Amino acid sequence: MLRIAVLGSGRGSNFHAILSAIQEKKIPAARICLVISNNSSAGILEIARASSLPAIHLSQKQYPSEELFVEALLTLLRNHEVNLIVLAGYMKRIHPRVISAYRNRILNIHPALLPKFGGKGMYGHHVHEAVIRAGEKFSGATVHIVDEVYDHGPILLQRRIPVQPEDTPETLAARVLRVEHELYPEALRLIAEGKLSTQTA
Ligand code: GRF
Repeated sequence: MLRIAVLGSGRGSNFHAILSAIQEKKIPAARICLVISNNSSAGILEIARASSLPAIHLSQKQYPSEELFVEALLTLLRNHEVNLIVLAGYMKRIHPRVISAYRNRILNIHPALLPKFGGKGMYGHHVHEAVIRAGEKFSGATVHIVDEVYDHGPILLQRRIPVQPEDTPETLAARVLRVEHELYPEALRLIAEGKLSTQTA
């Protein structure tokens, strides 16, 4: 059974897609155990609370040191028996201690075809602007394992869509987001069914 913690900072549309897939029994061997946001007013927390899931505002600002914040995060994950962390629009760096405690058990989704258009500063509209500026014929979404380097870990699943000549960053973002909403639940289903390994990737 996948016992998932979702970490996000914003609206939570990817989380919503994953939650719906679980509620519709499309991912039978998975449940959401915990939702964490660094932002107390994030949509992702509202979505979690509407489904009576544990939804916690956890920010480094609440702690006197990074060490104590990381300790609190690890304690939460342990207490909820989490075995997979799903980043869904989480805008904060994952501390190396968390990465090594959950080695190969932290996933992220990126709104482009990694390894292109990833790394520091490549988030939100910046990604789609860069794709259009570079004249790319294709963009898409990538689910990958999180390691110590931004957008760098092994790629698990990717889906591409054509960039249209008339695309703006906004229209491209909207189409990529629809792909994300299919791809993330699909990746989790494959992992839960043992058809996609996070260990050997
Ligand atoms: C998505 O585009 C995702 O690829 C990126 O952050 C965005 C989160 O959107 N990592 P949402 O909060 O899931 O709606």
